[in-house]
This record gives sequence, C-alpha cells and structure tokens, in this order.
Amino acid sequence: MKTGLRTCTCGELRAKDIGRNVTLCGWVQTTRIYPKFIFIDLRDRYGITQIACHQEKNAQAFEIAHKLGREYVLQVQGTVIERENKNPKNPTGEIEILPDFITILNTSQVPPFLIEEETDGSEELRLQYRYLDLRRKPMLKNIITRAAVVRTVRQYLDNLGFLEIETPNLIKTTPEGARDFIVPSRLHPGQFYALPQSPQLLKQTLMVGGIDRYYQICKCFRDEDFRGDRQPEFTQIDCEMAFVEQEDILQTFEGMIKTVFKEILHVELPPLPRLSYQEAIEKYGTDKPDLRFDIPIIEINSTVQGMQFPVFEQALAQKYLIAAICAPTCAQFSRKQLDKLSDMVKAPHRGCKGLVYLQYLEENNIKSSADKFLTDENKKAILKAVGAKVGDLVLIIADTASKVRKALGDLRLEVAKMQNLIPANTWSILYIVDFPLFEKDEPTGKLVSAHHPFVMPNPEDWKYLESEPEKVRALCYDMVINGNEIMSGSIRIHRPDIQRKIFDYLGLSSEEIEKKFGFLLKAFSYGAPPHGGCAFGLDRLVMLLVGAETIRDVIAFPKNSAGRDTMLDAPSFVENEFLEELGIAIKKTV
Ligand code: AMO
Repeated sequence: MKTGLRTCTCGELRAKDIGRNVTLCGWVQTTRIYPKFIFIDLRDRYGITQIACHQEKNAQAFEIAHKLGREYVLQVQGTVIERENKNPKNPTGEIEILPDFITILNTSQVPPFLIEEETDGSEELRLQYRYLDLRRKPMLKNIITRAAVVRTVRQYLDNLGFLEIETPNLIKTTPEGARDFIVPSRLHPGQFYALPQSPQLLKQTLMVGGIDRYYQICKCFRDEDFRGDRQPEFTQIDCEMAFVEQEDILQTFEGMIKTVFKEILHVELPPLPRLSYQEAIEKYGTDKPDLRFDIPIIEINSTVQGMQFPVFEQALAQKYLIAAICAPTCAQFSRKQLDKLSDMVKAPHRGCKGLVYLQYLEENNIKSSADKFLTDENKKAILKAVGAKVGDLVLIIADTASKVRKALGDLRLEVAKMQNLIPANTWSILYIVDFPLFEKDEPTGKLVSAHHPFVMPNPEDWKYLESEPEKVRALCYDMVINGNEIMSGSIRIHRPDIQRKIFDYLGLSSEEIEKKFGFLLKAFSYGAPPHGGCAFGLDRLVMLLVGAETIRDVIAFPKNSAGRDTMLDAPSFVENEFLEELGIAIKKTV
C-alpha cells in the first residue's frame, strides 16, 4: 500500500512495528481533547489507528490537532509506539502513533450523519451522500464482499474455460417480460435503442458463433415496479454453454455456488436438493420455497368429505382445493393475531374469502372458528390429517387451487416469522426444475411463455404440445436461496423449425416474429449448436451472503425505492433544444 503519500495503511500496524517511522493518511473519525493530549482516530478503508498528540513532545501536531473537524483528511508522519491503554477490539489497538508532523490534506464540512457502524442517517440521506455512507464499515464490508464474490466467480468460470465477453448495451428489445428503457438515436431521428433487460439473445448468438462457454458480469435494465429485491439497473452473472444438457448446467452452477459459499462464508454446502415446480407449488405454495423450516401445505379434500360445514361442502361441490398448514406452537394465538392472519388471506392480491382455524389447546379441547359446524370427531380427523400436536394451530383455506396455495404459502412464511422458526445462519439452497413451458395470461386466457419463448420443451412432453399445451414441461430451472430466486435458466431451442412452432402457439404473427427475433432465427439457420445457460442475480446473491435487508445495501450507487438517484438527481429534465436534436422534442401547446 506504499505510495508517495503514505508508507502504511491505518489498518496494518501491530506491536511488531513498534519503533518504526511511518506515514499514514486518512480521515478524522474522532478527536478526544485533554489539556495536554489530543487523541485522533485516523480512519481509512483498512482500519483505524490512534494518533497521540502530546503538547510537550510535539507542539506542531498538538496545534494542528486542535483545529481538526470530523472527516478532515490528514497525513501523519511519526513513530509507532506501544499504547498504554490497549484496545483489544481494534486490530491496531496495541499501538499508537506519536506524530512528528501532521499535514491537513483537506478540510471537510460537518457530515450530515454519523459515519460510524450505527448511523443516525436515514436511508434517503445516506443515498444522497453515498460517498460518506461508503466510508462506514458495514457498507464497506458489503462492497468488499461483493468484489470477492465477483473475483471468486471469475476464477471458477475461467478455470472451466468460460470466456468473458462483453455484449452491447445499446440494443433492441429483449424478451424478459419487463418494460424496456429506450434511448433515442440522434443520427436516426425517431428511432430508439433499447437497453438490455439481459444479454439473452446476444449470448445465444455467441453460441452460434462457436463460443461454447461464455460469461459476463453485466448490467441489465428493466423498467418495472420497485421492491426491496429489485432495481431498475442490476447486475447478472450471465452464462451460456453449448453442446450441453440440462444436467451439465445444473452441475456446473451447483459447483459455482458451492465455491462461492466456501470462499466467502467458509460454509461447505451439501448437494443441492431438487424439487419439481409442481411439488414446490403443491407443498409450499410458491416456486421459491424457503425450506429452512418445515411447514408443508396438506390437501384435506378427502378428509373433510361428509363434514356438515357449508364452506367445505360448497368447496367440494365446486371442485375447489381445501388445504391446510399446521403452525407449530401457535394454538394460543390471540384473537388479534388470528384476525391478522385472516385479513392477510383476504387481501385483494390473495383474494380468499376467509380462513378456518383449529386451535389444538389440549387433548380434548379443540377450539375452532367453525365450532358451530364441526364435531369433535371432525376436528380430530383434520388434526390427524395434518399431523398436528397439542399446542399447534391449523389454518385451512378452501378456494381455487391457485388462491389456496398462494395464501397458504404466504401464511407459512408469516407464521415462521412470527414464531421465530427460521434459524439464523442456516441455508436452504435448492434447484426448482420442470417448470411449465406455458402459462395462461389471466385476463385474456391466452397462452404465454412462462419464462421466455426460447425455452426448449421437455422432449418427453412433446406429445402434449397439440392437445394439452399447459401440461408441457420446459427444460427450465431456478436456484432458490432462503426463499429468494437467485438464478434462472434453461436449455434453449436451437432448431428454427421448433422455434417457429412455439411462436405459432404463442400467437405471434410472422411480421412480429421477423421484427422482434428475425436476426436470431437467421443466425439459427446457420448451424446453431444445442445450448443452454442461466443468469444469477449478483445483487441478490451478495445481499443474502452479507445478510443485508435490501439489495440497495450491496450496490455502491443504487436507485432509491422510487427509482431515483438522489445523489446525481436523476432522472432529470433536459433542455428542449437537446430533445429537438434527438428528434423527440415535446411540442408546446398554446
Ligand atoms: P431472469 O429474468 O430470471 O432471467 O433473471 C435472472 C436473475 O436476475 C435477478 N433479477 C434481478 N435482480 C435485481 N433486480 C431486478 N429487477 C432483477 N430481475 C432479475 C434474479 C433472477 O433470478 N436471460 C434470463 C436468464 C437465462 O435464461 O439465462 C434472465 O434474465 O436473481
């Protein structure tokens, strides 16, 4: 770390260095002023070193130290000495610097929030002054881990012969399902580039180009609504391989995630379990189940048959699903807690009519919201079907299968959080496989690609393509970590005839196909190899590795929750002349 301005960093000096003459540079974290001494905590990226200024031993340093403010930038020249009051919590806590000379390299305004581990700054303020926030240890740690993950991934993929290749950012629309960000072209007025939602089509084209192992750590741009785990601009570890089967990809990237966990967290992962999409949905109500706790969804249609409870009777008559979860140790939930769960399932985006519960208070004391209708025998039959024990709470929903599964999937998570059932420092990492190729678009009833239109149908299911297209499974997979979708990928269609057929099913006209994907089909007509790949969300992966609450905490300069960069003040208005030059001026109305 030696440069023209410093010999050492603020994090490296130890007892063995006592007696050395050193020069350090850094920021003033704090000063503690006594009549004859001033202590300065000098901070840089590597740590904090104490500078002890004695009035008698060095008047120049003492005088300067009196003038310092927080975050002033200093150069300190001096001798490493043993510290009287050692600080075992700080790696440099055995020593301090007796300065010969202190130079103020720069002054600083008083920062708007505390630059310490625990800060008093709101997230909005921290984002506006991100350069100050980055000086804080937790942020710095996240950014350092992020760089280490990228380094590990590069090394792993380089060792396997993957080539890192950049693909362009000024391209045409990509089929990832979000809205594109578009960029007007000055030289071609009225025409626009689109920023890539992912390099999907370009990486497939690279396979046609004979690059059989590609990766790229790339920015992707999606104009979609924001959530804690989404950013309009985010980073993917994007990969593609040729002459492979699904199993090759699953193995390769299981190896990669294991290497990352070993290098970054020193955790040895067991072989990753695999769950089919169908199983995940039926058992956990989601295609990204968190399996750190075991509360499965259990179908009870056959159990409740014959019970004289109108809710069950009507549901059975309509061929609805009746299913339950057993919430361990929740029998004593208060009315308020039960109402909260009931309101949750009735929320508009879940749309269930209600929740039936059984509180298994004692062997012969089972309280239920349907006490009027259910006999003791009925209740015991349900408890048995879901494997409930005394002290458990059973939550039952009857509705369409998709509503029941979604709501119970959300309830199992909610109950786990309420009861602290998710153990700290444990990992649930698994592959979800056998996704459906198509899904029905709810409002129109039209078939749409469940992922994107280039996913290869599972050859075992080609027979259903005409008769029952919804039954066709795709060669498509996700990796899920602690309930978060971290990676997604598929084997692609490499034959133009199959590709055209899929486009037909999706109801795309020849003009539409030609306009959107003509270049890809043309490329495929020149000997496209069988290929497939995947992409990891780097921000989400790092967020989980460091235990951050949102992906904003692992991105140096993220957008805020409204999609704004408040430090740069973007997006912002631009002059009309500039828009005119781009051919997109807003016409003023009088
Ligand atoms: P997909 O759209 O599933 O697949 O994206 C892959 C992974 O990227 C992450 N991700 C995001 N992270 C932060 N903010 C966002 N807005 C965001 N959107 C997605 C997720 C996700 O699993 N081209 C395909 C991959 C392939 O088939 O090879 C693709 O982009 O972790």
